[in-house]
Amino acid sequence: MPFDPFAEIVRGFEGEPAELIPILQRVQAIYGYLSPESVGRISRWLRISENEIFGVATFFAQFRFSQPGEHVIKVCLGTACHVKGGEQILDVLKRRLDIQPGESTADGRYQLERVACLGCCALAPVLAIDEKVYADTSVLRVHQMLEERENREDA
Ligand code: FES
Repeated sequence: MPFDPFAEIVRGFEGEPAELIPILQRVQAIYGYLSPESVGRISRWLRISENEIFGVATFFAQFRFSQPGEHVIKVCLGTACHVKGGEQILDVLKRRLDIQPGESTADGRYQLERVACLGCCALAPVLAIDEKVYADTSVLRVHQMLEERENREDA
């Protein structure tokens, strides 16, 4: 019999609707996100509609619906960053990468996230790419930053 990863995911569960959250957590831990295929399998197994599953999962910030990107861009929208233009920086990234927060680019290179505070409010507006924090950013700086990264990765 061929190996079925879903059978491993639900091993130890009874197939009760009340088990939805721990099953979603296990899928997310293994794959890093909840794919439409995973949601479909869970829906059939627990006899819960896919809409209900999405409704529950979107309530919790821990669940993602797209594959994690290679690099994570976190835009701070805490109070200090918000008043200094954090929202405009997020808008530029959304347009430039053609994704919404919580999504990854089609090539899998970037994942965009909004965060409440990166812990360096005096340097607002702030964003981080992976572990590197960029202070006192601007719309222009974001364009330059992405271009520099693209040139480096193409080299
Ligand atoms: S509010 Fe942005 S770093 Fe604190």
